[in-house]
Amino acid sequence: MLRIGMLTSGGDCQALNAAMRGVVKGIFSKRDDVEIYGFQDGYKGLIYSNFKMLTSKDFSGILTRGGTILGTSRQPFKLMRVPDENGVDKVEAMKHTYHKLNLDCIVILGGNGTHKTANLLREEGLHVITLPKTIDNDLWGTDMTFGFQSAVDIATDTIDRIHTTATSHSRVFIIEVMGHKVGYVTLYAGIAGGADIILLPEIPYDIDVITDVINKRTAAGKPFTILAVAEGAISKEDAKLTKKEYKAKLAKRTFPSIAYELEQQIQEKTQREVRITVPGHTQRGGTPCAYDRVFATRVGAAAAELILKEEYGYMIAMKNNEVTKVPLGEVAGKLKFVDPDASIIREAKMTGISFGDE
Ligand code: F6P
Repeated sequence: MLRIGMLTSGGDCQALNAAMRGVVKGIFSKRDDVEIYGFQDGYKGLIYSNFKMLTSKDFSGILTRGGTILGTSRQPFKLMRVPDENGVDKVEAMKHTYHKLNLDCIVILGGNGTHKTANLLREEGLHVITLPKTIDNDLWGTDMTFGFQSAVDIATDTIDRIHTTATSHSRVFIIEVMGHKVGYVTLYAGIAGGADIILLPEIPYDIDVITDVINKRTAAGKPFTILAVAEGAISKEDAKLTKKEYKAKLAKRTFPSIAYELEQQIQEKTQREVRITVPGHTQRGGTPCAYDRVFATRVGAAAAELILKEEYGYMIAMKNNEVTKVPLGEVAGKLKFVDPDASIIREAKMTGISFGDE
């Protein structure tokens, strides 16, 4: 009997179900003596032994379904070694559940935080395989994560819709795109949606450069301007602060988010009418796009292959369009940022997009 645990952890995204379906279809194509233990709400399910037994039927008809059939939750890595309110040692509890159920391996779908805990479990001797999910595409060791392309499509659609109303009203519009530390979704949606200004956490901006772009567009007879702004966009001034100083400054910020701070600054400096749109969690919702369905199916099937070969301790990744495996120990704790010197930034600048930096 092959006993496989499965959980989805951290923020949800599109194609989580497609990926799990890929794993299960892959395994059942070779063996039928398989038990699937679906842990509820991420690591919480593993800690508190909350699971349901699933059959291959449970994974039918879910290729296009958004969210996760297992539920998810955020369980910060830094709290994993801190006992819960009842004194439960979470790491020991997870190991206990794994051994009690006599699992052969656990398949964990998640982003950065999830991978740190997955690696911890590997170090504690559990057989772990992970799959790269997150709309942020910020996982080290893989060119792509599932959820990213779907989120880009949604953010692009938002920018497209704003474009028409911004043009009609000759307004400046700020679209705040998800991504606190990393700006991939903003970068791709911004280019795809024809944003005039793109602000990323990786490229600190100067507010005077931004208002200059807006004024020049107005003078050139283009009275509307679209800004695609990542949640974590940061000014050059703030980028000079230490992490601690910046955190303290953010804690005191009276604006709900960066878009509102920029709105006020732009309004004051240009006397232009500014509006804000925050697509928020719509970017993680709904059906996965075709790319994510294919990608998630491929990495799911590749995970099944590794399980059948009893090769554990890897994240399935995409590199140069090929599905491959990366040791979990190499992935955990590293973020993949947008490289400000990457050719995509140069190319975007060539087409007249400003990143607010020069
Ligand atoms: O990590 C994915 C992500 O969607 C980020 O882009 C976003 O900043 C964050 O999660 C939102 O988290 P939550 O769903 O906990 O509000």
